[in-house]
Amino acid sequence: MESPFKSDILKGKVVLLTGGGSGIGFGLSTQFGKHGASIAIMGRRKSVLDSAVSALQSLGIPAVGFQGDVRKQEDAKRVVESTIQHFGKLDILVNAAAGNFLVSPEDLSPNGFRTVLDIDSVGTFTMCHEALKYLKKGGPGRDSSTGGLILNISATLHYTAYWYQIHVSAAKAAVDAVTRNLALEWGSDYDIRVNGIAPGPIGDTTGMSKLSPDEISGNSEEREPLYKIGEKWDIAMAALYLASDAGKYVNGTTLVVDGGLWLSRPRR
Ligand code: HXC
Repeated sequence: MESPFKSDILKGKVVLLTGGGSGIGFGLSTQFGKHGASIAIMGRRKSVLDSAVSALQSLGIPAVGFQGDVRKQEDAKRVVESTIQHFGKLDILVNAAAGNFLVSPEDLSPNGFRTVLDIDSVGTFTMCHEALKYLKKGGPGRDSSTGGLILNISATLHYTAYWYQIHVSAAKAAVDAVTRNLALEWGSDYDIRVNGIAPGPIGDTTGMSKLSPDEISGNSEEREPLYKIGEKWDIAMAALYLASDAGKYVNGTTLVVDGGLWLSRPRR
């Protein structure tokens, strides 16, 4: 679907996306690039990075991939610095890297729980921490009038509770807390806006194939009147709103983009 936004709303911006080579993250990389941004992608798998970067470049988007794991602070630091070396500055950090698997609490080892928190929550904080000096107002490559922006990809499952997702619920609750607290402190001190997006089920993603809601809850369409599968495009359009000047007064919010699904209850 064509974008309703002008193609230059992110002109001249440099965006670093963790997990930007696949799924929702790649949808964000593509649309940010199509709207004028230069794209740096961080991911663990070289083959995924290589094919994402070639796909972006074939659309005429300046793009580069850096291998790294958000669980390692030295990787986070190196990738942020490589982005600066490559593009000269950093305007937008998108934390889209996430880990997930379905497991009951009985079968989940404490290390499995910790692994997902390490990727989603600690990884998000680590990336923000390493990117701060480049995102703050007056930081290297920036002018002194505006700070950069952070966008954290979250979820809605922790608003209530979700079968076999105790680790992810805890991890995404922490991500939302990071979003709000950084919005308060870094918005105030450095003019950095920090927001999140909580996607619903999005087609053609690893999350969707791994979590296939029918596996968990039977026929979701009957149980949940608002059940609809979204597209990566839907998440990218919300991200463009938050990342562009259209969202300049939005700070500390996590925008739910799920067609209203999390509100659903079975019809009586
Ligand atoms: C139970 C599991 C498990 C599983 C791993 N563990 N997979 N436990 N069931 N299926 C446990 C292991 O036993 C181990 O604990 C610990 O987790 C670490 O496992 P490793 O395999 O060493 O971890 P690693 O190789 O680092 O892999 C990380 C991963 C992996 C999270 C486990 O699945 C991953 O990175 N996947 C790719 C990313 C991904 O899935 N993205 C989709 C995100 S979708 P022990 O105790 O044995 O040492 C998404 C949507 C959210 O985020 C919203 C949903 C609505």
